[in-house]
Amino acid sequence: SDLHDFLHGLPKCEHHVHLEGCMSPELIFELAQRNGIELPAATNPAYASIAALSARYEHFTSLDDFLSFYFQGMDVLCNQADFADLAWWYFQKAHADGVHHAEVFFDPQVHQDRGIPYETIVAGFSEGCKRAERELGISTRLILCFVRHLPVDSAQKVYERFLASGHFEAGVVHGLGWSSTEVGPPKDMYRAQYTDAKTKGIPLTAHAGEEGDPSHISVALELGAQRIDHGIRLIEDPELMKRIAKEGILLTVCPLSNVRLRCVKKVEEVPIRRFLEAGIKFSINSDDPAYFGGYILDNYCAVQDAHKLSVLEWRIIAENSVQESWIPNERKAELL
Ligand code: ADE
Ligand code: ZN
Repeated sequence: SDLHDFLHGLPKCEHHVHLEGCMSPELIFELAQRNGIELPAATNPAYASIAALSARYEHFTSLDDFLSFYFQGMDVLCNQADFADLAWWYFQKAHADGVHHAEVFFDPQVHQDRGIPYETIVAGFSEGCKRAERELGISTRLILCFVRHLPVDSAQKVYERFLASGHFEAGVVHGLGWSSTEVGPPKDMYRAQYTDAKTKGIPLTAHAGEEGDPSHISVALELGAQRIDHGIRLIEDPELMKRIAKEGILLTVCPLSNVRLRCVKKVEEVPIRRFLEAGIKFSINSDDPAYFGGYILDNYCAVQDAHKLSVLEWRIIAENSVQESWIPNERKAELL
């Protein structure tokens, strides 16, 4: 229907997808069986069956309600092959949706706290990335996310492993982000890690302005974030909006996620037109596609159905997505 074929063919870059957010109920049950892990069906009826779990995903009440399922779901990832299979599954889907470049998040703290070695996690996800580059021609970036619901000590431990691994210099892990619970923990809880990473030239992003007010965005920028994940509550601070437009900071917007997590009632309320009119750069992304009922193309189509953008406006969105990707100019030129 209306521009959907055009949107399918439009070369896309994804900047905001959590690999652990690609664990469908089917995959969770399959890996639970493969690894001999018991799902908590006794205490949570949602884990009684694949169908029950899928149905529960349609009724998240908040970010934290979703996160409880998201962190439970990733419990079934144990071996390098599990991480590699999960990443490969995502890249195949992204490729089918017309993604040419993908920057993907992962949450090592949560796995490490379950006893999975940092090296196993990165080796598996990186294996999936390399396979996507080789077999699908997708360029990839792997971004390590700190999670705000765990103590800073746990993030520091992962950060030290990351530095000692040489993964940044080797081009295996390309940047850092933060995610999970937004409202509650100190806004600047990763000040030490971000300040240090900035001196090392490590690209930084941060989830901010999703459930939390715009001061979360200001603090993220103060700590050195070069990009803001979500950022939809930016419209509540006109001065900050001007600054973000002027500095060309990219927002990685996730419309279907915002609806499922009740940040907005419907995609019409995601401030797509306000951002376009203010000259704010943004990309459209899937966040946790297996949990939110849609991969990137579904998000593009939902935005089109709600906001009726022109082909010219879509070209601006697509071009900004390429320009603000963390890739060399030669790769940008190939994508434009
Ligand atoms: N982790 C995975 N998805 C997330 C989201 N939408 N917000 C914060 N943390 C997340
Ligand atoms: Zn996210």
